[in-house]
Amino acid sequence: MEQKRPIYLDHHATTPVDSRVLEAMLPYFTEKFGNPASKTHLYGNEAFAAVEESRAVLAKAINAKAQEIVYTSGATEAINLAIKGVASASKDRGRHFITLATEHKAMLDCFEWLTRNGFETTILPVDSEGMLDTAKLRAAIRPETILVSVMAANNEIGVLQPLEEIGSICREAGAYFMTDATQALGKIPVDVQKLKIDLLAASAHKIYGPKGIGTLYVRRSNPRVGINPIIDGGGHERGLRSGTLATQNIVGFAKAVEIAGKELKTEQERIGRLRDRLEATLLSGIPQAKVNGHPTKRLAANLNIALPGVESEALMIALKDTIAVSSGSACTTASVLPSHVLSAIGCSSEIVYSSLRISLGRFTREDDVQVAAEAIIQHVQRIRAFQELPAYSAIGK
Ligand SMILES: Cc1ncc(COP(=O)(O)O)c(C=O)c1O
Repeated sequence: MEQKRPIYLDHHATTPVDSRVLEAMLPYFTEKFGNPASKTHLYGNEAFAAVEESRAVLAKAINAKAQEIVYTSGATEAINLAIKGVASASKDRGRHFITLATEHKAMLDCFEWLTRNGFETTILPVDSEGMLDTAKLRAAIRPETILVSVMAANNEIGVLQPLEEIGSICREAGAYFMTDATQALGKIPVDVQKLKIDLLAASAHKIYGPKGIGTLYVRRSNPRVGINPIIDGGGHERGLRSGTLATQNIVGFAKAVEIAGKELKTEQERIGRLRDRLEATLLSGIPQAKVNGHPTKRLAANLNIALPGVESEALMIALKDTIAVSSGSACTTASVLPSHVLSAIGCSSEIVYSSLRISLGRFTREDDVQVAAEAIIQHVQRIRAFQELPAYSAIGK
């Protein structure tokens, strides 16, 4: 008999491909398999048309122009292109870059690359709820600041930063404003004109699209962003990102963005209600449980919760047949390092090691949340009761 699969509550890590997205992609694996760069026959032309129609869909979703959309393999590559590409193009104008302590590792590692390559960087702190104090940003910007990068939504605590205010500050100071919108696109409205965003990274697999495709939006006017490629080759994507385009993934990305845009309001409201119910049940059933991050300015799907006295790694092992959750960012859990995000908001190491990241999604149902809440409460009580046994306490001494 096939084993029942655990309930998936790790949508910040990745999402399943929506069947409507898969259906749109399928013809591009088989009969419409042409190379979009082959302009001399039907196969190439139909692939090219699909790539360009998809580009228009992505551009419209963020209120950009189609020529401003560069396809990449995902958000990590988009972030690398943005930071390294802008650094290389602007180094004679200035060498200072700013970001936040709670950014994704892809961003923080690019900032380390900047430092190694002779650029100056400022990593701004956040407050105990994960928010940037914009006065600190104003104070950090200098005449030689080239770019400020602040993520739209955090992948661990879901916190939403004040993008519009940050955009205005950067525009006034003449610095490019970049945002990592990987967790935000399709979950909150993102308008690059209104928010004065000059560069934006996103990825399809966080919004029910395929893995292996993402985008970098690069503003082409007012201001025109100076950027050099980091991958050389056939000059695809206006010379900014060489390599044969993955037509089927691009079509899937556009379909995913289209669906997310159409369903954004109802979907986010429904998910938010489920998250609130899960949060309330856990807070009332587990003494000392505490939500990490801002209580309201966060993604509807996100619940990052500290369960003091219970190691999250042990809890996840106990829960693994019932629910799939995570203890921090999936990209760093392999190394079991404490979450840099929870550390940055001032959590003690006890809180850091006892926190669970639960993220709901499009296919999460009411009874999934009920089962998850009951299982978490039951295992937390069991682990706490075990730890209170005299024999166990003695082991720790
Ligand atoms: C906020 C954020 N930025 C960047 C990434 C990297 O995205 P990708 O998996 O598309 O490279 C992720 C994925 O974990 C993320 O959550």
